[in-house]
Amino acid sequence: MNSTKVGPRTVVTLIIVGVLLIVGGFLISQATPLIFPVEASAEARQIDQLFRIALLIGGAIFLLVQGLLAYSVWRFRARAGDLSDGPNIHGNTTLEIVWTAIPAVIVVVLTVLSYSVWTSIQSVKPDEQAVEVQGARFNWAFTYSTPDPRDSSKTLSFKSTELHTYIGRPVRLEMRTQDVIHSFWVPAMRIKQDVIPGRVTEYRFTPVEAAGETYPARYPIQCAELCGAEHGNMIAWVVVHQTEDDYTAWFNQEVDKVLNPPADPVVRGEGILASQVYPCHTCHVLNTETLQWAGNVGPALNGVGDRAAGPRSTATGLSAADYLYQSIHEPNAYLAPGFGPLMPQLNIPECETRSIVAYLCTLTSSGQPACTVELPPECGAGAPPEATPEATAEGTPESSFDPSAPPSGEGASNPTPEATAPAADVTAEATAAP
Ligand code: CUA
Repeated sequence: MNSTKVGPRTVVTLIIVGVLLIVGGFLISQATPLIFPVEASAEARQIDQLFRIALLIGGAIFLLVQGLLAYSVWRFRARAGDLSDGPNIHGNTTLEIVWTAIPAVIVVVLTVLSYSVWTSIQSVKPDEQAVEVQGARFNWAFTYSTPDPRDSSKTLSFKSTELHTYIGRPVRLEMRTQDVIHSFWVPAMRIKQDVIPGRVTEYRFTPVEAAGETYPARYPIQCAELCGAEHGNMIAWVVVHQTEDDYTAWFNQEVDKVLNPPADPVVRGEGILASQVYPCHTCHVLNTETLQWAGNVGPALNGVGDRAAGPRSTATGLSAADYLYQSIHEPNAYLAPGFGPLMPQLNIPECETRSIVAYLCTLTSSGQPACTVELPPECGAGAPPEATPEATAEGTPESSFDPSAPPSGEGASNPTPEATAPAADVTAEATAAP
């Protein structure tokens, strides 16, 4: 074996190479994050810092391996006319110990650092703002709760299609899915968290002021788990306000909408659908003066009032309004011909469901409503807060629309396992509207 002594020249060379590797790794670790989105949360800074350390180590190893490769190719290349084999070298205990020990130390260091960042992100922060996140094929919705100004023993909640918060306020996300697995990905916050059927997932982040940003700042949320035909359009926004006052102004405006809903259930129902807090628009087709939906999974809703009063009523034995109510609350109790059991139970509160039914009744070819819905006093302006159905991941609230209507099978109190059909089914069902 080789018995070369390590002379001072070799030591100097090794030191120079070591310094060059570290400098090269450092440059890689500083240059790569330049292509990242802004760091809009405290956690983004922690994660990027950890990533820079990993890049520094990884960059140095990359340069070492590629450098040795290039050096070997040049230094030990075959000379003209040399057809002999190279020397058969094996066994170097020192080398084997070194190349086992160094990676082991690196892995342990990275594990400890990663664990400490993870526990810091997941630790409970003071004065957290709790926001419920619901993923459904194919939208994100956020539910905010606050003591009801009319009766402080009760809770008033409202939904938004945007996740609003402000700089410096820690946010705790309580995340659920209505159907299949989705992934809540906010690049600017460095959040990527799956939501899983039957589970509530918690995630925390604290927005920070990002350099050069104008406020309110908007950061995209994208679903990062293939969940069906409209997966690519499952996009929402985080809106970060600059101050608590700006945020409160938005919040109060939303609360006001809940306290003073339109008196006409048709107007109210249309408003709920237009707000897109429920994912109806991502699957159904609808063309009216105010709503243009181009979903490709569910039946078209133009003329649904006529169909509810005609063939659907005959098929189900329900009145038009009861049929429409059932199609929202127990979507799989009766399937429109040509469509599979893909619609999830969306846990839409009672007054909202009735308002949506009132609006759907008006979708007729003649423009004359096929049915009408009276909202009970508890759904009106100034009414006490409505009990929101428990937003469990798979539970289904009891429906109580018309006690005189015939019972409609087991759907009312059972979860709908069909709602978790694999994403591949979606495209198979994407046929034309009836
Ligand atoms: Cu939800 Cu992809």
